[in-house]
Amino acid sequence: MRIDIVTIFPEYFAALDISLLGKARRTGLLDVHVHDLRGWTHDRHRTVDDTPYGGGPGMVMKPEPWGEALDAIVPPTPPPPTPPVSEPTPLPSASASRPVSGAGQAAASGTVPRLIIPTPSGRPFTQALAAQYESEPWLLFACGRYEGIDSRVVDEARTRMPVDEVSLGDFVLAGGEVAVLVMIEAIGRLLPGVLGNADSVADDSFAPGAMESLLEGPVYTKPPVWRERPVPDILLSGHHGAIARWRRDEAIRRTARHRPDLLARLAPKDLDERDRAVLREAGFPVDGEDMAD
Ligand code: ADE
Repeated sequence: MRIDIVTIFPEYFAALDISLLGKARRTGLLDVHVHDLRGWTHDRHRTVDDTPYGGGPGMVMKPEPWGEALDAIVPPTPPPPTPPVSEPTPLPSASASRPVSGAGQAAASGTVPRLIIPTPSGRPFTQALAAQYESEPWLLFACGRYEGIDSRVVDEARTRMPVDEVSLGDFVLAGGEVAVLVMIEAIGRLLPGVLGNADSVADDSFAPGAMESLLEGPVYTKPPVWRERPVPDILLSGHHGAIARWRRDEAIRRTARHRPDLLARLAPKDLDERDRAVLREAGFPVDGEDMAD
């Protein structure tokens, strides 16, 4: 997968040299290019921001450096030559990929990237979105600062490539850099070959499957007793069925405690008697088929 990042703080991305992602870069699974937005400014102060039209606090990122950056990374293709008047105009084909309607298709084939812009006003970043991005050959991240990027940059980019504005959650960061690091780690660890043990992705909280709407429960390792705290006996029992049941019970309890909103996503048909008993004990009785409503 190729990843381009445009930022005014390239130093943030030194973290991508470390650990799993660093290894993925060294082995060629991830091809990361970090670009300094100020390289596309032309004044002595390398200015990237200006005051907002309409007034208000803060500064807005100027469109010109962003336009030049995106053009340099994704060179605009010239429009196809207009056929001579005498020839019939061909119907638009499914492979006519650069106009707006084909932008998603062009991204899937790797001719253009998907542009991802972190912003608190974007759509939520989820495990499902990370999985969707993992399947794309080329992602381009635009790190905004201040009050954001002049909106015309996004509008113009949309005519050439798919654009997603994405939020990490209901809080405000000082800029997009940390959000991009988070997204790249979530996406990168899903790439085949990046994690040592393929099973760990399947076991994640939010991973698609039977446990999709449940948080992962507690985990333990050696020694069996630490500071007079023993590991739960069941985990040392060797009874795989009983261990799986205990883990599910713990996942249900933890989800009820930390994320009761997720319980509403449990399909009643996927809940057995024991699930219902644990939910009842946690204060979330399943009355009939009502929980999916
Ligand atoms: N930039 C600032 N706040 C953000 C957030 N919550 N998510 C993504 N990008 C951001």
